[in-house]
Amino acid sequence: MYAAPAQPVAYEVVGDAIPQPLQGLVGDASRGRALVTDRREGLCLLCHRGPFPEERFQGDLSTDLSGAGARWTPGQLRLRLTDAKRLNPDSVMPAYHRTDGLQRVGSAWQGRPVFSAQQVEDVVAFLASLQ
Ligand code: HEC
Repeated sequence: MYAAPAQPVAYEVVGDAIPQPLQGLVGDASRGRALVTDRREGLCLLCHRGPFPEERFQGDLSTDLSGAGARWTPGQLRLRLTDAKRLNPDSVMPAYHRTDGLQRVGSAWQGRPVFSAQQVEDVVAFLASLQ
């Protein structure tokens, strides 16, 4: 997959959402699906389950991602993904595109976001397609 960038990109939070795509990038839902089911990069299925019949082990620490695109706008999904702690300081969900104040991150992840801006947009595009 792609290498994460050295620095997170700037974004503007409005209410509980990041309305504009990061860097104006267009997401690719099929790449997003691959990231969500990836056990090394996304790790989403550690905590979530979803419409992934081929995945044997799925998490039950959090919600079923099925229908996420019907529950949230793309902007709300973008903020939940980039920085879940901004909405819920006690959240165990990792901030996928934020580096300041991160704790307990593996050394490979220190000082850089988990997902690049493009990867964030790919995952947002995929989640938005889950109606
Ligand atoms: C360590 C556990 C963990 C991981 C890993 C994780 N999440 Fe979450 N996620 C949560 C929890 C817990 C919530 C519930 C809200 C909160 O506490 O922030 C949540 C909430 C959400 C929500 C909003 C609730 C819903 O289902 O509509 C979405 C969407 C979401 N996560 C997507 C993802 C995606 C996509 C990934 C991977 C890129 C991911 N999460 C990785 C724990 C996790």
